[in-house]
Order: sequence, then structure tokens, then C-alpha cells
Amino acid sequence: MRPHRVKIVEVGPRDGLQNEPEVSFDDRLWLVNALSDTGLSHIEAASFVSPKWVPQMADADKLMGQIERRAGTTYAALTPNLKGFEAAIAAGADEVAVFAAASESFSHKNINCSIIESIERFEPILAAARAENIRVRGYVSCTLGCPYEGTIAPAKVAEVSQVLFESGCYEISLGDTIGTGTPDKAVAMVEAVAARVPMGLLALHFHDTYGQALANVAACLELGVSTIDSSVAGLGGCPYARGASGNLATEDLLYMLNGLGIDHGVDLAKLIQVGNQISDRLGRINGSKVGLASKPSC
Ligand code: HMG
Ligand code: MG
Repeated sequence: MRPHRVKIVEVGPRDGLQNEPEVSFDDRLWLVNALSDTGLSHIEAASFVSPKWVPQMADADKLMGQIERRAGTTYAALTPNLKGFEAAIAAGADEVAVFAAASESFSHKNINCSIIESIERFEPILAAARAENIRVRGYVSCTLGCPYEGTIAPAKVAEVSQVLFESGCYEISLGDTIGTGTPDKAVAMVEAVAARVPMGLLALHFHDTYGQALANVAACLELGVSTIDSSVAGLGGCPYARGASGNLATEDLLYMLNGLGIDHGVDLAKLIQVGNQISDRLGRINGSKVGLASKPSC
């Protein structure tokens, strides 16, 4: 069941940088361009959300317009509502993502509405996207725990995933937003979702707060999941999930995939350089173990 090849969705420029206390426009643009040169086929580059809510993601339209696009790479953007979708498409986003949650409390904190209201908000996005032939990804947050509600039932994750899938999302990305999952729980959650949405259309989006993300991915790969979200240098977090750390580091994921003989199409050596450089630019410790181990000074 383990796949021979996986698709990596690099979320560093969006999920990674949205939580940095300070990030310049130049660093954001530099990161997307540098990542493009590593062979990544999917980069979540920006977020068309309210700049009052997430100031780090302001000027998303300018950013999308200035990216040096690599042929064959999809540059995606997060869009919480039709306003965001229209701005993203006008700015040249190749693909968009809507984001719901399996927790009511988190939905309110993150996007100021209930789960059902969020689904209703996504309907016009999905209709407009269909008309314009734009692919829409659907995120479900808090699939393995919520910072406000604690445990979340796999059945609830499956229910929200199914609604997004049946509404027209081509892929469902399952977020362990606060990184509390462990392998058996991750497998049980993915199996519950796969009973409603085909396994081949699921993605794993695991934050590494408790150091479990790579173990959880390894366990779920055995189920046949073949799309993994990760973030260069383990950048990341969610402003509306206190304590959430970065995503699984892309370098660490690639290193494991190389060891397992699973193709991914990304140049690990180049990615390590990008991870070290963005960490230096941001003045933070590299969150990738592989990145740190490969630093020339080590
Ligand atoms: P709201 O305040 O309920 O919305 O926010 P509103 O419609 O009343 O609008 C309020 C103001 O925002 C208005 O401006 C709108 O024009 C503006 P004002 O009149 O006050 O000047 N506005 C916008 N501006 C730019 N782009 C837009 C937009 N929409 C409204 N698209 C809203 C609702 C959804 C906008 C807000 O809650 C929001 O932006 N939330 C974003 C939260 C966020 O980005 N969270 C992080 C990403 S999710 C995540 O990280 C999890 C994930 O990684 C998966 C995982 O790890 O689990 C995906
Ligand atoms: Mg996330």
C-alpha cells in the first residue's frame, strides 16, 4: 500500500511565515522564488485573508504578481471567502484552498463563523472556481485535537471532509493543527476519512509541536496516502492555535522518503540551503533536524 511516489505541498511561505512575529515582503518573495528552484511542484505562496487578522500575509496580490514562476510549479493561495478568491485569481493564483475545521470553537476563532457557515461561504468560491476551471483544495483543521475542545472524534473529521469533497474540493488536507496526534490516532483518523473520501485524494498536514509529525506521516504512508504538506525549515504555526509550532520540516520528510525509496522530485541539497538561508534571514533556529545536521559548521 505504501506509495512509490508522493506529492509534496510546500506550505512554508504561507503556513510558515503567517506566524512569524516579523516577516518582510522581501523575505516572503525570496522564499517562494528560492523554493521554486528546488523542483517543488506545489507551493502555497500566499493567503488572501484579512490583513487585520493576519498582517504577515498582507500584500498577497503584489507577492503573487512578482513571483518568478517556474514552469510546472503550481502556486496556490488560501482563500477564506469570495472576496479572497476573486483577489487571488486576479493576482494569478493557479489554485486556491478553502479552510474549514472539525472543531466549532476553532472555526469561530480562526474564521469567525461556525463550521456550517464556513461551508456556506465556500459554496460561491467553489462555483466560481468551477466556472473558471480553478482547482480548490479543502483543509480540515483540528483533525487530531483542538486547542479549545481537546479530543476531536474521527467521525467529525470524516463528516467535514466528506462535505468539502462533495462540494467540489479535489483534495482534502487533514491538519493536525496543534501536533498532538500520535501514529495510531493518525491512522484511525485517516481510515475514518478514507471511508468517505478516496484515500488517493487525501493529504496529510501535520504540525510538529510534540515531535510526532514524521512518525505520523510514516504510519499513514502505509495506508497509501500520497500527498504530504510540509514546510521548509519546519517554519509554521497558526495564529489562532496557541502553542502550535511549525509544520513537519520538508527536509526531514525528504530525508525519510529517500531512505524509504519513495520518489518526490525535490532536490534535497538545494532545499537544505534554502532552509538554512530563510532561518538566517528570519533570525530563528532552523526547525529541521536534517537542515541543522547538514550545516557546514556542524
Ligand atoms: P470577519 O471579520 O468575520 O469578516 O473575518 P468580515 O467579512 O466582517 O470582514 C471584516 C474586514 O475584513 C472587512 O474590512 C473586510 O473587507 C475584510 P473592513 O471593512 O473592516 O476594513 N476582509 C478581507 N480583506 C482581505 N481579504 C479577504 C477579506 N475578507 C474580509 N479575503 C475572515 C472573516 C475570514 C476574513 C477573517 O476571519 C480572516 O481573515 N481569517 C483568517 C484566519 C487565518 O488566516 N488563519 C490562518 C490560516 S488557517 C491555518 O493556518 C490552518 C491550516 O494551516 C491547516 C491546519 O494546520 O490545521 C490551513
Ligand atoms: Mg497548518
